[in-house]
Amino acid sequence: MDIKYKSKKAAAEFAVTLVPKGQFIGVGSGSTVNIFIDELSKYKTIIPGCVPSSEQTRINLIKNGLKVVSLDEGYPLTMYFDGADELNRDGQMIKGGGGALTREKIVAAASAKFICIIDDSKLVESLGKFPLPLEVIPMAAVYVKAELVKLGGIASTRTNFQTDNGNIILDVIGLDLSDPDYLEKTINSITGVVTNGLFASRKCDEVIIGSIEGVESRCFD
Ligand code: A5P
Repeated sequence: MDIKYKSKKAAAEFAVTLVPKGQFIGVGSGSTVNIFIDELSKYKTIIPGCVPSSEQTRINLIKNGLKVVSLDEGYPLTMYFDGADELNRDGQMIKGGGGALTREKIVAAASAKFICIIDDSKLVESLGKFPLPLEVIPMAAVYVKAELVKLGGIASTRTNFQTDNGNIILDVIGLDLSDPDYLEKTINSITGVVTNGLFASRKCDEVIIGSIEGVESRCFD
């Protein structure tokens, strides 16, 4: 078994033990969450329903015998479980590597507690090595790219990709991410941006980090 997979699996197995009995939960997207869903399927009798953050997750939950409900039915959610592309010391993240950032942000916002599940390769001193994903209304792409240049960013359109909401993803490098909260708000104020992959104002409340040495949990205020 490869080290990264083993680390993700260790984190996912631990995260499943935190699932609240008899309550609706939010379920994110990505390879770590897919392992979490495999584990979650063992507990299906105690989970009344899951709100998925992507079509891929919705399909995967159903395949694993878990009940899918809409946010209308599940709101407010007690817990949201999701991965991340990068996570800093404060629990702020870059997400959206899989392009599901908008729904992830909605489900995270609608949840009392956000538990992030990662392998230790996702821990960073400062965010920004991973290109920042933005979901953008297609006709606004040219304008949004020009506005990003003013912030020092170089954006490229993700090829052959459409989000679950029918939009495009821009992957942006070159930005100054030293103040993630400020940058998140600044980028979200550009007309045509649906949202960006900085999860700074709604960071995670707890992270479960899997590594070759085992599992570590850290909580954030
Ligand atoms: C999906 O859009 C992302 O936000 C994921 O949470 C992120 O890319 C982590 O995915 P992995 O668990 O596959 O690394």
